Amino acid sequence: MKFFIDTADLNEIREAAALGVLDGVTTNPSLMAKAGVTDFRTHYLRICELVDGDVSAEVISTDYEGILREGRDLITIHPNITVKIPMIREGVKAIRTLAAEGVKINCTLIFNPIQALVAAKAGAKYVSPFIGRLDDIGQDGMQLIHDIRDIFDNYGIETQILAASVRHNQHLLACALAGSDVVTMPLSVIDSMIKHPLTDSGLQKFLADHAKLTEQLKSK
Ligand code: G3P
Repeated sequence: MKFFIDTADLNEIREAAALGVLDGVTTNPSLMAKAGVTDFRTHYLRICELVDGDVSAEVISTDYEGILREGRDLITIHPNITVKIPMIREGVKAIRTLAAEGVKINCTLIFNPIQALVAAKAGAKYVSPFIGRLDDIGQDGMQLIHDIRDIFDNYGIETQILAASVRHNQHLLACALAGSDVVTMPLSVIDSMIKHPLTDSGLQKFLADHAKLTEQLKSK
């Protein structure tokens, strides 16, 4: 399972990349606004220079021609740019056209399995089901990952499931068990993958015992 970071914050991306297990980055207009980005091209280029993997850059047009124009422009920034297109009628048409040109597409805002099937048929490289936002409205976000996995496996569909709106590491565990291809997560969830209180207390004990032994050896 690939690990992507879901942020436009360069410091967070740098920190996650330093771990050596980061496979890509996803951004969206809200994350770009939160990071206070003013020069989009330069910012995407910086991200691509930090991480050797696909970087999703989202279009803001909602009409077919506009999405094509933005998508074709975004891919000139760096070969790793993946064009993120929303699951809307004009988006599906644009995915078909851009995918035929060889553009990598991440179809976003997926909330049911049939939307994922449509995006895959149109030629998307990734579909992004939003787990946390379904949980937020009282639905089972993880069931969506299971259903898409079943459908894609039924038909040998190679489009990758990119689980998004991941809020905690139980989502992450469930995604790994469900066979999600990619999980994109905020830095807080990346940190939580590593941490366990028993790891910390166990390490403290090892270090304390080692220090005690060193003292004993010194006094001999
Ligand atoms: O990038 C899309 C998705 O991951 C957003 O997550 O937390 O805003 O629902 P969230």
